[in-house]
Amino acid sequence: MTLQNLIVGISGEKGAGKSTLLQRLAGEEPSIALIDTLGEHETLFPVFPGSPREQVLALAEPPETFRWSFLLDPDHEAKHFNALCRAAYRSGDMTFCVEEADRYSSAVKDLPGLKIMYDYGRHRRINLVWLTRNLATISRKLTSQTDVFYFFRQNEPKYVKDLADRIGAMGEPYPAVAEQLAQEILNLPKYSYVLAAKGHQPSRGTVTVES
Ligand SMILES: Nc1ncnc2c1ncn2[C@@H]1O[C@H](COP(=O)(O)OP(=O)(O)OP(=O)(O)O)[C@@H](O)[C@H]1O
Ligand SMILES: [Mg+2]
Repeated sequence: MTLQNLIVGISGEKGAGKSTLLQRLAGEEPSIALIDTLGEHETLFPVFPGSPREQVLALAEPPETFRWSFLLDPDHEAKHFNALCRAAYRSGDMTFCVEEADRYSSAVKDLPGLKIMYDYGRHRRINLVWLTRNLATISRKLTSQTDVFYFFRQNEPKYVKDLADRIGAMGEPYPAVAEQLAQEILNLPKYSYVLAAKGHQPSRGTVTVES
């Protein structure tokens, strides 16, 4: 699959399969920048060496194709994140992935860099792929801008109402159907997901790993 100026959200509990799916989706894209807080993706997407300033400069004028992950400076995480987002926006033509998006998005406020990506990124031919364990803390703005959602297992009954609300906001007109989908997501087996895309019936899938 190649993405087409899409915003893709991937949610689910720890170990549910989110990062594995990200590697499947992004792996086929020509140019990838990945904010990888935990260093989960080093083998596929090498960590960009150099200072934050060098990282930002490289992303602002990248080669034609690239696969970089960025570890953020823990002392200046928000500033570093915003600067990378702005550089990516300036360059355009890439898939920009954000692991642990709840570090940059909250119910009341998104970091400005993230806002630029979801409000304007598509005009610069940018795909945004964001991942989170804690969907309930992500801003409504980000979820309402998301075109395609992969919901992995989220086995916390307290999240059901929030999940149902967000499924409703994606266009499911019947609250009872949204609630049923939320219950399904709660009980999904590991590595399985419900795929919801605006204007489409939900479908199901499982992420696989080569043995
Ligand atoms: N279909 C599968 N069968 C067996 N193992 C799998 C499968 N999919 C993923 N895994 C493995 O399960 C582990 C957890 O998957 P992954 O890292 O994708 O989860 P995650 O949702 O990103 O978790 P976290 O929230 O902790 O980052 C990984 O070691 C991965 O290789
Ligand atoms: Mg992960």
